Amino acid sequence: MVRVLHFTDVHVVAPLSRVPLRDWLGKRVLGAANAALRRNRKFVGAVEKLACLAEFVRSEGIELVLSTGDYTTLGTEVEYALARAAVEPLLSAPRGFVHVPGNHDLYLPDAVRERRFERTFADTLASDLPEYRGSGAFPLVRLVGDDVAVVAVASARANPQPWRSSGRIADGELVAFRRILADPRVIGRFVFVLTHYAPRRADGTRDTHLHGLENADDFLAACRAIERGAILHGHIHHAFELELPELPIPIFNAGSTTYAGREGLWVFDVDATSAQVTRGRWDGARYVLDAASTHAIR
Ligand SMILES: [Fe+2]
Ligand SMILES: [Fe+2]
Repeated sequence: MVRVLHFTDVHVVAPLSRVPLRDWLGKRVLGAANAALRRNRKFVGAVEKLACLAEFVRSEGIELVLSTGDYTTLGTEVEYALARAAVEPLLSAPRGFVHVPGNHDLYLPDAVRERRFERTFADTLASDLPEYRGSGAFPLVRLVGDDVAVVAVASARANPQPWRSSGRIADGELVAFRRILADPRVIGRFVFVLTHYAPRRADGTRDTHLHGLENADDFLAACRAIERGAILHGHIHHAFELELPELPIPIFNAGSTTYAGREGLWVFDVDATSAQVTRGRWDGARYVLDAASTHAIR
């Protein structure tokens, strides 16, 4: 049995006075204004809540921690440092920590050029099947015990136009993803697929082309090869669970684990033949499991 936490979109916000002037260019000014006006209030307790999440991991016996990105708001060095410090206790989960960047972590091309995600989290990006990696860290595979595999697929990119926040899985990465799912070392395991973008919205429809995953259909087609598993994502800040008739595995969005009033997370218990999921929530002082929500995954 492996006990697994999925959290996402914690969006730490650095005090504006600590962001160096050179970061204040173009979209970031707009993004910052937007963040200051709309998001800051909702994510204001993000760092403190991450400390509570570490306590939840200890008290609930979580062994493997999975995150689907958007650690930061503007992708600045200051926010990266804050986020890294805040998630530090989670990185040493007994069976590991696996994650992907979100679009806010790659907010402008400089975050990509400077490889901020890869530098900040360099010690977390080892793959058990490195032969499938592209030019970066992904797709990244972890084989956990005999029964579980985690496959992390990058879908976020910089979006220099302020009105666009869409994503795409690079074509080469999708090819590698298909090969990973056909690898005998992965077949037969319960496969957690991590990506930042939602392949579908809560009602099963495609997200808009300005906000969604451009090649969601190709991604879902590849996921049809998975016999047992779950797709985990974030980006849409409302937690939901979704089953699609054409897909053998369910989709879970943790929404945002720190968004005030709708904090989301999922806990999975997986063994060789069965898996169940429980929804978690914030009770005002700590994260708790909603025992009544526990159910088997088909
Ligand atoms: Fe987000
Ligand atoms: Fe996002």
